[in-house]
Amino acid sequence: MKEMRTGIERAKSTSGGAVRKAAITVLRGVDSGQTVDAALLPVSLTGTDRATLQWLVLGTLREFLSVQALSAKLLRKPWREEDADLGFLLSLALFELRHGQRPAFAVVNDWVEMTEAVKKPWARGLMNAVLRRYLREREVLDTALVDRDLGHPAWLAARLRAAYPQDWPAIAAANNSAPPLWLRVNTQRVDPGAYRRLLAEQGREAEGVTWSAAALCLPASVPVATLPGWDAGWVAVQDGAAQLAAHILAPREGERILDACAAPGGKTAHLWALGATRLDALDRSAERLNRVRETLERQGGEVHLQAADAAETATWWNGETYDAILLDAPCTGTGVIRRHPDIRLRRQPEDVAEAVAQQARLLEGLWPCLRPGGRLLYATCSVLPEENEEQIAAFVQRHSDARRMAHPLTGQRLPGQEDMDGFYYALLEKDACA
Ligand SMILES: C[S@@+](CC[C@H](N)C(=O)[O-])C[C@H]1O[C@@H](n2cnc3c(N)ncnc32)[C@H](O)[C@@H]1O
Repeated sequence: MKEMRTGIERAKSTSGGAVRKAAITVLRGVDSGQTVDAALLPVSLTGTDRATLQWLVLGTLREFLSVQALSAKLLRKPWREEDADLGFLLSLALFELRHGQRPAFAVVNDWVEMTEAVKKPWARGLMNAVLRRYLREREVLDTALVDRDLGHPAWLAARLRAAYPQDWPAIAAANNSAPPLWLRVNTQRVDPGAYRRLLAEQGREAEGVTWSAAALCLPASVPVATLPGWDAGWVAVQDGAAQLAAHILAPREGERILDACAAPGGKTAHLWALGATRLDALDRSAERLNRVRETLERQGGEVHLQAADAAETATWWNGETYDAILLDAPCTGTGVIRRHPDIRLRRQPEDVAEAVAQQARLLEGLWPCLRPGGRLLYATCSVLPEENEEQIAAFVQRHSDARRMAHPLTGQRLPGQEDMDGFYYALLEKDACA
C-alpha cells in the first residue's frame, strides 16, 4: 500500500506525461522480448519520476494476464498488430484505475491524452469510451475476472500447483504483490546498527533477521538515491534470500574461492565483504561481467574477473583447485517473479528443460575444480523441483565423492516466506579422500 500511495503521489507530478510515455515504451520493449530491467535501463527519468514509472510498469506486468482478459471484455475486437501501443496504454490505464488513488477522471483524461503521444489520435474517443465503460461496470467486470491460474500462464500454474499443492495460493499471492526493499549494509564501511538508526532518522523503520546483522528489510521500495550513504556504497540492494548464499558458503581466511556465475556481482561483493580475499569470478557474458566490475567499484573488493563458460574448464582453469565454489546457476527465475514480473510472460515450458541441462553441465564441469574436502554451494532463484532437489539428488547419485552437508539455511525457500524471494540452496562436500 505504501508503495502504491507513493507511486500515485508521484503520478501527479508535472512530468506525469513523460512517465506515462516511458511506461508505454517499456511495455513495448518487454513485448518484443526484452527483460523489464533491460527495457527500463535507457529511460532517462530519475528520482520520483523513475519510482512512479517502476510502480506503473511492474504493477501492470504483475497482473498483465488478468488485465488482458479485462481488455478483451471491454473491446469488441483485439487491437491490430500496428496498434499494439494502444493495448499497452489501455493496460497501464486499467492498472492505475484499479490500484491508484488519483481521481478517476484525471486518470482517464491523462491516459486518453497519450493516444496523441503514440500517434494514434483517432483512438481518442475509443479509449475514452472504453475506460469510462470500465468505471461504470467495474464491479461486474472485476467479479467476472475469476482466474484459476491466479495471473500465471497455464503451464506454469500447473507445475507450481503440482509441486506445491498446499502452498500454491500463497506462492501466487507473493508473485502478484510488490516485494519489500531488502538492503545489505556494507559492513566494511558502516556499522549495521548505526545504519539502521540513520534509516530511522529518515522515518524508515527496517526489520532485521537473526542470521545477519547486515540484512535489513524496508516494507516498500524507495528511490535508492535517498538512502543514507548510497553514493558512498554504504548499502546495496539485495534480497534477503540472495544474501543467504555468502553466509552458507561462509568464506574462511585464506581460502581460494570461485564464484562461477557471478554477474551482476551481488554475491561476489558479499563474499568479499565476508572475508573472501582470494576470489575468482567468472561469467559467460563479458557484458554482464562489466556489471560485476561496477558493483565492486561501488562496494569495494578486489576480485579476479574472467569472461568464460564455467563448464568449459579447459578455456579458463589453470588446474589449481578451489577450497569453495559458489554455483549460482542460470535458471528459470520462477522464484523471483514478484521482482521480475515479466518472467511469467517471457518464460516458456521448454525453458525448464534447457535450464536443467545447463545446470547439470555446470555442476559436472565444475566438480573437478573443487579440492577433496572442499565445498560447493549450488543455488538457483527457481522454485521448480527439477532445477533444485531433483537436480542435486541426481548429481549426488552420479558422484560417489559428493555428499550433502546439513545447514540450517539450505533447502527450498518459497517466494514470500519471511518476505524473501524464492531461492534454493544445496551445500555439497567433496570426499576428503577423493
Ligand atoms: C543467476 S545469475 C547470477 C547472479 C549473481 N551470482 C549475483 O548474485 O549477482 C546467473 C549468471 O550466470 C551466467 N551464466 C550462464 N551460463 C553460464 C556459464 N555456462 N558459465 C558462466 N556463467 C554463466 C549468466 O550470464 C548470469 O549472469
